[in-house]
Amino acid sequence: FNILLLLTISTALNTITPSKSIKDPDVIISQNGVFRLGFFSLANSSNPNRNRPLKDSSGILTISDDGNLVVSNGKAEILWSSNVTNTVPNCPAFSLWKPRPHFEDPSNAFIETMKISTDVKKGRKVDLKSWKSIDDPSDGNFSLGFEPFNIPEGIIRKKNQLYFRTGPWNGYTFIGLINMYTSYLQGFVVVADNPQQPYCMTHEFYTDSILIYGELDSQGKFIERRWDAGKGNWINKYSSYQTDCDVYGYCGAFGICDSSKQPICSCLKRFKPRNIEEWSRGNWSSGCFRTTPLQCQRDNNNGSGAGQGDDGFLEMKNMKVPVFPHPSSVSNGECKDQCMKNCSCVAYAYDDGIGCMLWSGDLIDISPLAESIFTFVCHLRNSIKGNILRSLLLQQ
Ligand SMILES: *[C@@H]1O[C@H](CO)[C@@H](O)[C@H](O)[C@H]1NC(C)=O
Ligand SMILES: *[C@@H]1O[C@H](CO)[C@@H](O)[C@H](O)[C@H]1NC(C)=O
Ligand SMILES: *[C@@H]1O[C@H](CO)[C@@H](O)[C@H](O)[C@H]1NC(C)=O
Ligand SMILES: *[C@@H]1O[C@H](CO)[C@@H](O)[C@H](O)[C@H]1NC(C)=O
Ligand SMILES: *[C@@H]1O[C@H](CO)[C@@H](O)[C@H](O)[C@H]1NC(C)=O
Ligand SMILES: *[C@@H]1O[C@H](CO)[C@@H](O)[C@H](O)[C@H]1NC(C)=O
Repeated sequence: FNILLLLTISTALNTITPSKSIKDPDVIISQNGVFRLGFFSLANSSNPNRNRPLKDSSGILTISDDGNLVVSNGKAEILWSSNVTNTVPNCPAFSLWKPRPHFEDPSNAFIETMKISTDVKKGRKVDLKSWKSIDDPSDGNFSLGFEPFNIPEGIIRKKNQLYFRTGPWNGYTFIGLINMYTSYLQGFVVVADNPQQPYCMTHEFYTDSILIYGELDSQGKFIERRWDAGKGNWINKYSSYQTDCDVYGYCGAFGICDSSKQPICSCLKRFKPRNIEEWSRGNWSSGCFRTTPLQCQRDNNNGSGAGQGDDGFLEMKNMKVPVFPHPSSVSNGECKDQCMKNCSCVAYAYDDGIGCMLWSGDLIDISPLAESIFTFVCHLRNSIKGNILRSLLLQQ
């Protein structure tokens, strides 16, 4: 079953020690009665261990001499070990009071105090991996990890393709998550000491009265569940997939995905579908293209490179900003100028936590967020004025 549930058990009364192992069918139950550790039979396999299953009921769970948790079979062959060494990306400590165990293979569950991390320098990652199916814990098609990019984001990949993104981390929240401002998602921490350090993401409530865990299911959906003591059951609180707009790049380049609209995809203002025939059939993958070049593009082609007088910005409020922003150190007031000055800049946005963000190339994965406080502004040929507070500017 899920080895991670041990993190909670380690503080409970019923414990496993080097001298006291658990032998199938024994179980230990955590003090609050919520977690159970032992050997569980799935529909077709007995499986505490994902890719090397235990085939019979001879399993033994022990703590080895070096302090690792080990699953072995009746022939004393080691099938799985927590294999804790110091090779896991060493996230800076930020927990004030909880023990911080390291796990290299967290399976499909994300529980409190656990860390998802990416060490760019060493090329090491700790991410969640989906199961193949509800009763087959071997590795499935999806993984959930943490990408530093230029500005860090949490992401789900399908095989190696982006499948879902949280939007950039601004020091307090992921600005692309719809429900990020509601209380149950508070408690996430992202640590980045400097660009050379690994980035880590963890989740922790400063109280034991809330029990919460997340699971990456075999369909690539990340679901958060909260323990309801009254009902004695786990209740689904959040899902990373609510509409097709949660699928990365659903409407292609320069497309906007709005699940409340029919059709769900539209092009940004002054953009048109690249392939009308495909688009009208509901195949959005080719996205949209700019119908009228920017004045600065025309001037550049004409060798003058001067006037940008006719170029302006379209402001869009409450949007999930596109993927791959470039941070710039300029102030809020200068962010717009920085984008305006550079004809390759297609959009900008400003967030108090992140600062100025600039985009070039295709804009992918834009959608309205009902509860967002984020504004997106587009660069148009004829300026559409708006209150540029935290805005994304699309140069059109
Ligand atoms: C489990 O076994 C049943 C019956 O043998 C089979 O139909 C099913 O496909 C199996 N499921 C998996 C995930 O292997
Ligand atoms: C433990 O981890 C090291 C380094 O990742 C690896 O080389 C070794 O094979 C692992 N041992 C076991 C028993 O999984
Ligand atoms: C994983 O991907 C392969 C190929 O894209 C597909 O055939 C298979 O059904 C997928 N598995 C799951 C569990 O979705
Ligand atoms: C959608 O369009 C793309 C690009 O032309 C094509 O590769 C893909 O097969 C199409 N998908 C469907 C379901 O028709
Ligand atoms: C280039 O500039 C000339 C003179 O200002 C103008 O007549 C011409 O239309 C411009 N060409 C393009 C492609 O914009
Ligand atoms: C303009 O923007 C592009 C793309 O972000 C960047 O590579 C280039 O250095 C910028 N040019 C100037 C003069 O800032």
